Amino acid sequence: MSSSGPQPRRKQSRKGSMADVPKDLLQEIKRLEDLFTVDTAKLKAIVDHFISELAKGLSVEGGSIPMNPTWCMGFPTGNETGTFLALDMGGTNLRVCEINLPEEKGEFDIIQSKYRLPEDLKTGTADELWAYIADCLQQFIEYHHEGEKLDRLPLGFTFSYPATQNYIDHGILQRWTKGFDIEGVEGKDVVPPFEAALEERGVPIKLTALINDTTGTLIASSYTDSEMKIGCIFGTGCNAAYMEHFSEIPKLAHMKVDPKQEIAINCEWGAFDNEHKILPRTQYDVIIDKDSPRPGQQSFEKMIAGLYLGELFRLVLVDLHEQPHVKIFEGQDVSALKKPYSLDASFLSDIENDPFENLQETDDTFHTKLNIKCLKPELELIRRLAELIGTRSARLSACGVAAICKKKGYKTAHVGADGSVFNKYPHFKARGAQALKEILDWDKGRDGKPLGRGHDPVEILPAEDGSGVGAALIAALTLKRVQEGNVMGIRDPEGMLKGTKASDPKSKQVAPETK
Ligand code: GLC
Repeated sequence: MSSSGPQPRRKQSRKGSMADVPKDLLQEIKRLEDLFTVDTAKLKAIVDHFISELAKGLSVEGGSIPMNPTWCMGFPTGNETGTFLALDMGGTNLRVCEINLPEEKGEFDIIQSKYRLPEDLKTGTADELWAYIADCLQQFIEYHHEGEKLDRLPLGFTFSYPATQNYIDHGILQRWTKGFDIEGVEGKDVVPPFEAALEERGVPIKLTALINDTTGTLIASSYTDSEMKIGCIFGTGCNAAYMEHFSEIPKLAHMKVDPKQEIAINCEWGAFDNEHKILPRTQYDVIIDKDSPRPGQQSFEKMIAGLYLGELFRLVLVDLHEQPHVKIFEGQDVSALKKPYSLDASFLSDIENDPFENLQETDDTFHTKLNIKCLKPELELIRRLAELIGTRSARLSACGVAAICKKKGYKTAHVGADGSVFNKYPHFKARGAQALKEILDWDKGRDGKPLGRGHDPVEILPAEDGSGVGAALIAALTLKRVQEGNVMGIRDPEGMLKGTKASDPKSKQVAPETK
């Protein structure tokens, strides 16, 4: 896409002035800067360790990072056709989509409905969860296909939690992440209870592929950009997927697959450094972990993902208020600030986005949301703290991207990224790009031109809709493999075709290669 005409002027950034900040707060700001700043040398050390941990996750012994093979084997050609359903079980919403892949290469049509995922479902029972999801799917089909006689529709289910997949239509939940805590799901295959709930309701759907949001992002982005090498989510959670050769996956060696064959790996890199060897954790990161439903898990994610950014910020402010030598929010009622998880990442985004020199919007937000009246120096500290937390998140996130690029030997690459932090958090993209430059020692762009957007050798770009189009494409790629008799990593190939359009060789459900 090119744009012409006048370009918007660069948004003015607020430099901030610490001139009138008293000495005790200045000292605290300095202490926070030391705690939260990750310099170039540290970034490089993290990346080196990250690379070895990625390899360890692929080894027979395994490591902290699960490196889950997904049985999504290869990229789409752009010639896939047919109609698919996609279900995304995100953190806050359930989204159901119907995607039509037409004959025009790289195109798609989509209709979708969103259903709120009730908060208590996240800590409820497994039966309630599957019943709720099946009801939403039933409602979607009834609404969009009222009175129609339907073939069974193939479904790509985006289940964005770590799952062991011996097959693409199967997935044993390793552990809940992102604050979910539903009893009786961990350690079990999620597909049978999900299908049973559909069956009970007579919903004409066949699960074709269970996927992770990162794999969906990788595949959807590669559908429109052949340079896409990595799919990332920087949102409530944080993770990535990329294509790996079987030759590099000792834990799958027993399957004797052609070493040159590729398979998408869902890294689950949120678990990086669970053994606390390299990440510069602060006392606040330690508290977040300790008070979470799964202490000891997702160390990396807990330092950078959207679910935790507001909480980190809150913990620092509460701690400062409680230190007798730091005069912050003196004489104020801080009870609202003391409520765990009361601030989300958008609270920090708003502070970083405050355009006013006197931080008027931040002042207003603290007053309305937390009932705290801030003094000018306190506002300066608040602003700096938000910057520090947001910057650390972006710089550490870049370590994961750099590690995959270095492991794979990619000198240039496009990385498709999605998620609320990537899309909405101010400066996240620029801070990530700066960190990549430092880690990978670039001095000029991929085309010899100066570094910058469009020229950086590795660029993190907004992705296509992974849990919609990506899930549909992976379902299409899987059906195509079944049609071709290539059923490796597919548990129920016959069941996948039965009663669907794909069982009719004359149908347009998944195009033959000869196009
Ligand atoms: C968490 C999940 C992972 C997901 C990521 C982004 O890390 O474990 O599966 O990809 O969040 O949603």
